[in-house]
Amino acid sequence: MTPKNIAVAGATGAVGAEFVSVLEKRNFPVKNIKFLASARSVGKKITFKGEEFAVEEMTKDSFKGMDVALFSAGGSQSKIYAQSCVDVGCVMVDNSSAFRMTPDVPLVIPEINPEDVKWHKGIIANPNCSTIIMLMAVYPIYQLSKVKRVIVSTYQAASGAGAKAMKELEDQARDFLDGKPVKKEVLPYQIAFNLFSHNTKIGDDGYNEEEVKMIKETNKILHDENIKVTPTCVRVPVLRAHSESIVVETEQKLSLDAVRSAIAKFPGCQLVDDREKNYFPMPLEVSGEYDCKVGRIRYDYTFDNGIALFVCGDQLLKGAALNAVQIAELL
Ligand code: A2P
Repeated sequence: MTPKNIAVAGATGAVGAEFVSVLEKRNFPVKNIKFLASARSVGKKITFKGEEFAVEEMTKDSFKGMDVALFSAGGSQSKIYAQSCVDVGCVMVDNSSAFRMTPDVPLVIPEINPEDVKWHKGIIANPNCSTIIMLMAVYPIYQLSKVKRVIVSTYQAASGAGAKAMKELEDQARDFLDGKPVKKEVLPYQIAFNLFSHNTKIGDDGYNEEEVKMIKETNKILHDENIKVTPTCVRVPVLRAHSESIVVETEQKLSLDAVRSAIAKFPGCQLVDDREKNYFPMPLEVSGEYDCKVGRIRYDYTFDNGIALFVCGDQLLKGAALNAVQIAELL
């Protein structure tokens, strides 16, 4: 691959920091790199491959001469700057939900639908973190037999709400243990020693926005309008990795051995399924890891062809920065 000019938009955020580390660790061929954030961050420094870079304020001119912009500055910023990227031929790989359901924007998990990057028109969307982590566990099964439905409950880390929410969890835990009043500034309810329904708006049908994303994005990524998904998304007091309890109904009856072997072989997945030791995937053990871990594989008793499983994946990596850098690698 010829070295590319890369812009990291939202470089001071939780995902932004992971963009930097993933580009470094994967030895992405970088010619020039710039780090963009709001005016508040001008003057901050970011170290990349041993060299210090000053954070620049993101403006509409920031993308001239850039080949790829990795965006994680929130959906409103993605909407403001998308045209500026497209106009100068800089491909926007966008981590926000701004363009995920736009018909001419591919929504890509490189292990699942890499061919979709080919039809991009300047913007490629990174799916929602919960969708990515769910499909990393479901797709190996889908390859054995079409999946008719997915029932999923998420246990989502604070990182999904950004660096400030991670700090809020730490601060609340400290204050709670010190007997001090707990402050709530980012998340709507106390997250330390608690959990609550995902902090996105609830629609008329009772599903919140995160749940709707999981439903619609699954159809788009798999190019399968028939697969039905019922999610329940919950925020839990974990710092940075999401977990999901999943039941799938397949068209054909599958053996558990076939499912285990498909998951173990699938790139980006590790099988962690030790019934004897009661040892299964845990969010702490995937934090900082590229692979998702999948286990608790067993038959579901409520469907004829039902399989239950549990997956953990690092929300900031496979759920965000790693997936986006993998998309840039495909480009
Ligand atoms: P800043 O640190 O200057 O506010 P997180 O998701 O962890 O909250 O991070 C959000 C990222 O998006 C940060 O890097 C933040 O920069 C950046 N960001 C937020 N608002 C803007 C904006 N108006 N222009 C550019 N970057 C922004």
